[in-house]
Amino acid sequence: MRRNIIAGNWKMNMLPNEAISFIEEIEPLVKDTNNEVIICVPFTDFFYANNMAQGTNIQVGVQNMHYEDKGAYTGEISAPMLKSVNCKYVIVGHSERRQYFNETDEIVNKKAKKALEYGLTPIICVGETLEEKEAGKTIEIITSQIEKGLVDLTASDLDKIVIAYEPIWAIGTGKVCSSEDADNMCKVIRDKVKEILDIDVPVLYGGSVNEQNSNEILLKENIDGVLVGGASLDPEKFAKIIYSGHKLGE
Ligand code: 13P
Repeated sequence: MRRNIIAGNWKMNMLPNEAISFIEEIEPLVKDTNNEVIICVPFTDFFYANNMAQGTNIQVGVQNMHYEDKGAYTGEISAPMLKSVNCKYVIVGHSERRQYFNETDEIVNKKAKKALEYGLTPIICVGETLEEKEAGKTIEIITSQIEKGLVDLTASDLDKIVIAYEPIWAIGTGKVCSSEDADNMCKVIRDKVKEILDIDVPVLYGGSVNEQNSNEILLKENIDGVLVGGASLDPEKFAKIIYSGHKLGE
C-alpha cells in the first residue's frame, strides 16, 4: 500500500490545552491509518503535543526556524534547539512567511540546509500568486523557487526533504486547485528535484484541502500527500483527510 503524508499546519492557532485535547481526540480515530501523520504546531504547543503523541502514529513538527545555530536573533528558534526537544519536522518557506516576514528563496535555502544539517526534515513550500498564475507563469515561478531553494544541498540525508506545492491563491480561500493541475505541478516539481539532486522526493499539495476534496487529490498519481491548514484544526475533519487516498486494490 502506498503511504501518503498527511501534514497539518496549525499556523497561529491552538493553545496548549487545546493541542492536548486535539491529540487525545484524534489519536483513536487515526490509529489504524497507513498514512504518515504529521502535525506542525506553534512552538508553545510543541512540548505538550509531542508528549501526548508519544507511542502513537502521530508525529509533531513546527512551522519555522532560523538558519543560524545561535546568536543575537531576538525571538527566533534554531535547528539545534528543535533537535534538542526531539522535533523532526519543520515547515520552511511557507508563503505566509514569504509574504509577511520577507522570506526569500535564499533564506528558504539556508533554512533547508540548516534543517538537514541537524537531521530535521524540512517541508519546503513553493507556490505562485494569482497574478503569476493568470500571467501563465506558474511553471516558471515554481521551477525558480525549487532551483533557488535547493541550491548546494549536499547533506547525506537529502532523502529527508519533502516539498509542498501550495498555490497562494488557493490558501485559506476555499478555491482549491483542480486535482489535475495539482497533479501536473507536483510532477513538474518531482522531475525538477530529480534533475537537480537526483533523488525522489515526496511532493504534497496544499491549499483549501478538506475532508470532501482530499480523496480525489490523494488519488492522483503524482501527489504524495497534503499539507492542510484550516481543516487540520478539527480532529474529525482531519481524521477523515488522514484516511483518504487509498487506491483501489492497495
Ligand atoms: P488552508 O488549508 O487553510 O487553505 O491552508 C493551507 C496551508 O497554508 C497549509 O500550509
